[in-house]
Amino acid sequence: MNCRLRLFDKDSISDFEVKKGTNLLEFIRENTDGIIAPCGGHGICGKCKVEVRGEGHVTSCLYNISKDIEVIMPGEQSMKILSTQYEYTKQYWLNPGRTAGLTAMPFGMAVDIGTTTLVFYIINLLSSSVVEVLSKINPQSVYGADVISRISYGVENPDGVKNLQKILVDTINNVIMEYSERNDIPAEHFVKLAITGNPTMLHQLMGIDAISIAHAPFIPAFTDTKVFPARDLGINIHEQGEIVLPPSLSAYVGADIIAGLASIDRERTGKNFLFIDIGTNGEMVLLTPGKILSCATAAGPAFEGANISSGMGAIQGAISKYSYDSYDVIGGLEPIGICGSGLIDIVAEMLNRGVVNSNGNIKADIEIYKNGAKTVSVTQKDIREIQLAKSAIAAGIKRLMAMAGIGLDELENVLLAGGFGNYIDIENAIRIGLLPDVSVEKYIQVGNTAGTGASLALKSEGFVEDMEKLIKEIEYIELSTDEEFTMEFAMNMFF
Ligand code: FES
Repeated sequence: MNCRLRLFDKDSISDFEVKKGTNLLEFIRENTDGIIAPCGGHGICGKCKVEVRGEGHVTSCLYNISKDIEVIMPGEQSMKILSTQYEYTKQYWLNPGRTAGLTAMPFGMAVDIGTTTLVFYIINLLSSSVVEVLSKINPQSVYGADVISRISYGVENPDGVKNLQKILVDTINNVIMEYSERNDIPAEHFVKLAITGNPTMLHQLMGIDAISIAHAPFIPAFTDTKVFPARDLGINIHEQGEIVLPPSLSAYVGADIIAGLASIDRERTGKNFLFIDIGTNGEMVLLTPGKILSCATAAGPAFEGANISSGMGAIQGAISKYSYDSYDVIGGLEPIGICGSGLIDIVAEMLNRGVVNSNGNIKADIEIYKNGAKTVSVTQKDIREIQLAKSAIAAGIKRLMAMAGIGLDELENVLLAGGFGNYIDIENAIRIGLLPDVSVEKYIQVGNTAGTGASLALKSEGFVEDMEKLIKEIEYIELSTDEEFTMEFAMNMFF
């Protein structure tokens, strides 16, 4: 008799049929890159532990599979998030549409074009399985870290818009070509792409000037769902292959947010819940049984490390976690700077120790690390940048809640989407006033929902229809003309 085993490993979820009685360590050895088993599977070292959902951590060499189980491989927090993400994702039948019939072995690619990072999910459209996930820094970054700099580059240079488009198209083509070469699968087997991103990124992908996004009244050139031949963009897949761009809501609430929100299984959340994605902009949606309200606030790039004296992105050498007596550095290296999650921890810790007061004042720069001439520190100006960023997010959330007539005690869940939301310490984010002061148990870190949404848009035409229905239910609140927001923003500057 066989049991079903679902394995969460790195960035993939795989399903297996396993003979009842199979030893879990042996199964893992055969089907993954491996696991450390120093005692050779004799149950002595305890190093071969994995998590079996519902049972906790088990010693895999002593565990024989006797029923259907879900196994989460050890190590990175990303596996936890992947598992949580799966749990909160609405399930759809595989129904990719016409293009899946173009070849005997159809592949598709879901792409999430972030301002900073592009994430690619290569998906087998016969089995629905994700065969590879990879990410790349958005090569447009040489033209600025945020969307406004990219838009400016586009309008100020004769071939700016064309160039920004070419960069994205070339990157997508390269990912497909490299995958094809690595796996000996002709690019013609790729028949469909689903691409999410913020409205600026999608405009630039389409070769459309995004200047209207940068100026009031902030009206994008398009927000509707687009389905068109891949060759129109110069994407080198099957000649009849197509591209799906999910719909956006407004200039700053894009297809990434809509696809992400639509991917959430609302049966699993409370009735009143917030969905927040924090990056350079903070996009948020408040869902209640009677109303769905959404807004976006310009948080600025502080949480991505920009405009911070020792700030840096969440890359090797960045202090990503901090407490009074310890800190974590990405890659285990000597610290060279601080990324957003580390900054939140440092400010929370310094508030608790009275080094930063409730106005955000400090007496002198806060030295976090020193080695000879190398110093990683937080300055008064850095604290002000963090105050501006956290205040914008907090004020946006408060305005949505006030407009929906929802108090903090009625908020049942807060879903944090996106990379930054995954890695922040929630208690510390509450301490500095970035996130609402509700019980930590109400928070759910749901991972890259934009990528999940893009994958669902690739795999299911029904999902695209659901996104279109959802968008009609959402009321967009423009905060730039909202006086109450300005007041909230000023009030939330304090810690
Ligand atoms: S391999 Fe040592 S306890 Fe399992």
